Amino acid sequence: MLSISISNKPLHEIQADIIAIPVGPDLVLEGIFSTEIREHISALLKRSTFTGQWGKAELFIAPKGMHVPLIAVIGTGKSDDFHELRNEGIRRAVAAVALDGRNHMVQRIAILLPDVASAAPISEALLLTNYWFAEHSKALTQDEKARSLQEAIFVVRNKTDIPQVKAYAKRAQEVMKGVTIARDLVNQPASHMSPTVLVQEAKKVATISSRISLQVFNRKQAEQKKFFGFLAVARGSKEEPKVIHLTYKPTQKPKKTLVLIGKGITFDSGGLSLKPAASMEDMKIDMAGGATVLGLFSILPVLNPDIAIHGIIAACENMPSGDAYRPGDVIKTMNGKTIEVLNTDAEGRVTLADALTYAQTLKPDAIIDLATLTGACVVALGDTYAGLFGNDAWLNALIMQSAKISGEGLVEFPLPEEYRQTVQSMVGDVRNTAAMKTGGAITAALFLQEFIEKNKEGKAVPWAHLDIAGPVYAETPLIPYWQFGATGYGVRMLVNVVEHFGK
Ligand code: BES
Ligand code: MN
Ligand code: ZN
Repeated sequence: MLSISISNKPLHEIQADIIAIPVGPDLVLEGIFSTEIREHISALLKRSTFTGQWGKAELFIAPKGMHVPLIAVIGTGKSDDFHELRNEGIRRAVAAVALDGRNHMVQRIAILLPDVASAAPISEALLLTNYWFAEHSKALTQDEKARSLQEAIFVVRNKTDIPQVKAYAKRAQEVMKGVTIARDLVNQPASHMSPTVLVQEAKKVATISSRISLQVFNRKQAEQKKFFGFLAVARGSKEEPKVIHLTYKPTQKPKKTLVLIGKGITFDSGGLSLKPAASMEDMKIDMAGGATVLGLFSILPVLNPDIAIHGIIAACENMPSGDAYRPGDVIKTMNGKTIEVLNTDAEGRVTLADALTYAQTLKPDAIIDLATLTGACVVALGDTYAGLFGNDAWLNALIMQSAKISGEGLVEFPLPEEYRQTVQSMVGDVRNTAAMKTGGAITAALFLQEFIEKNKEGKAVPWAHLDIAGPVYAETPLIPYWQFGATGYGVRMLVNVVEHFGK
């Protein structure tokens, strides 16, 4: 585990393997103390292609008189339009230094903080980058031992900044524990990850604090609660399906109530509408929404938000068998609406239909679901952006802003009225694949919206759906702090959501 300390020693006295110094777009060296060192770096910069760009970093040999062998400059230049100014650039640049440092045996990294608040994104970047899922591999275990960062030293100019920097770093470290839990769960193969294992994880989370309670419904209990859509999907697998319901209560009377739903398919084979082999390879990730919710819940006691939060994961496996649900089947769901199943591979929405109905019985002020729902969303946005769909402008704006702060790519999609007819069924009430071939991420969201009920005044609960199929897992880590595998996408965004939801 990476330890973080804070120092206000002058730069030439810092002991580390590398020191990273922020550089703005005009190549201003922020807070370099001695003219000698400043001139040395300026001379090096003139000979490099580095121009202080957003998210970039460059390594140099350190000048004489310093106690570090290497210097890195990190770009804090202008941001793009989609990310919070600077913070995401700092994250990416720091990650670039940490990755590059691995080739130079860097285990202790010092970073001159551009400002007090940057302690948070810098801590996040270091911990995101310094992640290994080595459990099943000797080579990776050795790699982790040999190449992981051991120590980070945050260098501040003013001693008076230390307490604040400490607080930012501490909080980021706590948040990152939740991110790591989510990543570990998603990385775990289906041979080691079942609804029962998710329940064990939920139990662990519930023991952290008396303010978190847990209810679990097994197959029989889920049936009594009328989770008929969910149970239809679960039928093809030997794994016992489980509905996980976590509840967090704040110390004071809750200002509001929020329900978070996570898709929890521990393996998606497609069922009888079997996926082709290549599309099935990564389908252990289909419980990533659930993992995100569990990761968040694990840190709620330290975040201490002033709202009540429910976490719901209807966990099962989607498998073909003699008992599996079939294309053409009609299933009556919890709220009485019937689903015509045209494709058993569109299983997520069938399980979420019941989860959404159940969520509404809790009378929340809002519902947010997170789901690796469609390949179409990945086609639309690629690997680093998730899609946001919702029926409430305030909730959508809160989520967009939260993602901007956390540096997690998110794009708002429409829910067009004219597409609604494409999920209408000729046999039942709704069909689980749309009659329109295009816009699959949108029509999936419209299907979900069919399960958000309107009251007598025509009002529906504020609801948002995040299709996270793209960014939860990285085959090619496009962002420097992403490693191969699970990214933990969504946990940090949700942290910002729960902090601001009651305000
Ligand atoms: N779990 C998949 C979606 C998915 C695809 C997640 C790729 C991550 C990466 C989902 O259950 C699914 O199979 N969706 C189908 C829906 C189709 C049958 C309408 C899809 O996207 O192909
Ligand atoms: Mn599927
Ligand atoms: Zn799925």
